[in-house]
Amino acid sequence: MKKIGVFDSGVGGLTVVKEIRKHFPHLDIVYLGDTARLPYGDKSESTIIDYSLSNTKFLLNFDVDLIVVACNTSSAIALETLEKKFCKTPFVGMIKAGATLALKKTKFKKIGLIGTRATIMSGAYKKELLRMNKDVEVFEKATPLFVPLVEEGFAEDEVSFIVAKKYLSPLLEKKIDTLILGCTHYPLLMPTIKAIAPDVSLISSGRATVEFLKENLDIKANNKKGSLEVFVTDITTHFKEVAEKLLQEKINLEHISYERMNGNEN
Ligand code: DGL
Repeated sequence: MKKIGVFDSGVGGLTVVKEIRKHFPHLDIVYLGDTARLPYGDKSESTIIDYSLSNTKFLLNFDVDLIVVACNTSSAIALETLEKKFCKTPFVGMIKAGATLALKKTKFKKIGLIGTRATIMSGAYKKELLRMNKDVEVFEKATPLFVPLVEEGFAEDEVSFIVAKKYLSPLLEKKIDTLILGCTHYPLLMPTIKAIAPDVSLISSGRATVEFLKENLDIKANNKKGSLEVFVTDITTHFKEVAEKLLQEKINLEHISYERMNGNEN
């Protein structure tokens, strides 16, 4: 395995890229952030599927060996369609990986889940958690304001703290011991969430993906430093700043038009 494609609606999937680069530094990564169509979390199922299909088609132009769907919303709604439509390409979604790690971490089998509206409404996490362990209790909460706060660069601002407190209080009242951050944007809010829920194990999609890759794929590391290409469908104000702060490296942001994305460019 040499090259992988990763997509998300925005900057959030880079939290997964960060973990992958830490643990598999030799991999070449092509990242697509579909910033022009963000947020996915409030869209209908058919739209999320359409967007996920076009993102996948774009990444396949780069001869990637694997596609990481670094968007919980796409993973919850579109993964099955992607696997059927592109049956020669292996995909890694966020749901199974996140559920597996959460079940490893929970002591009292009380798991909280936060995510976009679409992810929570899909019931995908709850189904997967209960399929793996029928004794677990799952407490869910859609937290739709988190994505715009992160994309605006407000992750560490007090406004995020106030919003997070409001969202997390009902879950903490249920005495959860583990919280799945069921959206790849949310690890950027980790310090804020940790301050509100210091005793809860936080499950990020990035960590969960790395564990999943280690357990399920035979990726042979070598000394080469892998490349990172970052494409976005719109150059939004804070993307580069948030991305570079997160990755701790300079990135070269490339804009990709829908014409080129869909192969219709003259
Ligand atoms: N980061 C994405 C997720 O993991 C989606 C955020 C959004 O576009 O609503 O769910």
